[in-house]
Amino acid sequence: MSEYILEIENLTKDFPGVRALDKVNLKVKKGEIHSLCGENGAGKSTLMSVISGVYPKGSYEGKVFFKGRETNYHSVKDSEKEGLAIIHQELALSPYLSIYENIFLGHMKTRFGIIRWDHYIKESQKYLDRVGLRENPGTIVSKLGVGKQQLVEIARALSKQVELLILDEPTSSLNDDESAKLLDLILEFKRQGITSVMISHKLNEVLQVADTVTILRDGRSISTWDVKQDNLTEDLIIKDMVGRDLTHRFPDRTSAPEDTVLEVKNWTVYHPEYHSIKVVDNASFYLRKGEILAFCGPMGAGRTELMMSIYGGSYGSKSEGEVYINGKKAALHSTKAAIDAGLGYISEDRKNLGLILIQDVKTNISSSSLGKISFFGIVNGQKEIEEAEKYRAELRIKTPSIHQLTRNLSGGNQQKVVVSRTLMANPDIFIVDEPTRGIDVGAKSEIYGILNDLVKQGKSVIMISSELPEALGMADRIYVMNEGKIKGVLSHEDATQEKIMSMALVG
Ligand SMILES: Nc1ncnc2c1ncn2[C@@H]1O[C@H](COP(=O)(O)OP(=O)(O)OP(=O)(O)O)[C@@H](O)[C@H]1O
Ligand SMILES: [Mg+2]
Repeated sequence: MSEYILEIENLTKDFPGVRALDKVNLKVKKGEIHSLCGENGAGKSTLMSVISGVYPKGSYEGKVFFKGRETNYHSVKDSEKEGLAIIHQELALSPYLSIYENIFLGHMKTRFGIIRWDHYIKESQKYLDRVGLRENPGTIVSKLGVGKQQLVEIARALSKQVELLILDEPTSSLNDDESAKLLDLILEFKRQGITSVMISHKLNEVLQVADTVTILRDGRSISTWDVKQDNLTEDLIIKDMVGRDLTHRFPDRTSAPEDTVLEVKNWTVYHPEYHSIKVVDNASFYLRKGEILAFCGPMGAGRTELMMSIYGGSYGSKSEGEVYINGKKAALHSTKAAIDAGLGYISEDRKNLGLILIQDVKTNISSSSLGKISFFGIVNGQKEIEEAEKYRAELRIKTPSIHQLTRNLSGGNQQKVVVSRTLMANPDIFIVDEPTRGIDVGAKSEIYGILNDLVKQGKSVIMISSELPEALGMADRIYVMNEGKIKGVLSHEDATQEKIMSMALVG
């Protein structure tokens, strides 16, 4: 048998108006970890969907060979039977079912027409142990955080005797700690003989675990590298991804913050269900006009909860404390009140970005700014199109047209639509929660450029970021949070990765 478990020859896949894949070639060696890199919309997810039968035979041109045989899949079920499992960019568990039901959903066997639940509960424990998830198999999945849900998906794949595991941006919503564990798990699978294909925008992780890297650009396979032999670096990957050198990942900016525009004093937020638990504990901070603030800290530090509760009480059972906007005490009891007071929020939640996926790109971009493009309550269609076109060009949203349904955009391009919507609403104070999650390196520096322009125009930005280089590269000041408390603040000049981490732990 050949040393390749998966071989793809001249694969072409068209969608109306888009050639998503153009004569792609890819070879994955048995037992290796193979990473797939490329800009948003390069075709990574589409390629994996073809391989796993999401797009059935006949809907693409070219050939796919798995374990030496040409595949003929008509659905994901067909590929699963042969030992292929895919974990999608957006998780696909049934939130209201238990862990073990999710693991065995669709492939439970019955005896005399009866499902042996106790057998499956016991059986699921085996797979939970293998992925290192210490939860009761009966736990309802929606009670788990994203990191744990991901482990349930992997346990599900293992239960189907997976030989080739495909992971589409597995660490994009995980913190450093969870990511490290997941990468360890993939390495452990490699020792057990399982082959993995991992899509990721986190190039440091790619270099850490991958044996081979293939780069896609505009639907074409550009290059394949042996990480060790070729001494592959992030810069080399980026060069092939974007087709040029990308020298300034963080564009330069001279900052000149002025008066305080937002001040929060002694802010405490209580858990939405357990009303006595303080999720944010006595936090105080201020933001000046023309300033970028970053909030750093481990997952669960309370950063999102702090900002969402300020943003019209979008989180928590109740909050205490004071908010001042331009020196005046403000009562932000609803998101409408927050928007009227000049706040705008870009949420971190990828699955629930507030996008209306069945509507087109332009409608989503303008949906927070209807007042601006309507006259006497009627939307001016021409103006809506102009605005949407402007953002499409500025953020390089990859779509055949602004009339395309948002759900047909790649994950990173959907995120760009969310950013556009808030930009168009034009608030004075932008709260951006993990603004570059799932966004490729090139587009990231474009978003950084846009944030810099905003502050130049006298706007202010609060950025929640789990990527320390991003916080260090962008922020005028960095607040460090942990366990619901603000542990300290560092200026741009003083801040280092080590200081942020030790401040989070020690305070
Ligand atoms: N169902 C669909 N209908 C129409 N176009 C689609 C569909 N799915 C994907 N596309 C288009 O195909 C191209 C490739 O998308 P794909 O999702 O594979 O990108 P990706 O490399 O995974 O990007 P990202 O890093 O943003 O996840 C994009 O231009 C996208 O808009
Ligand atoms: Mg994708």
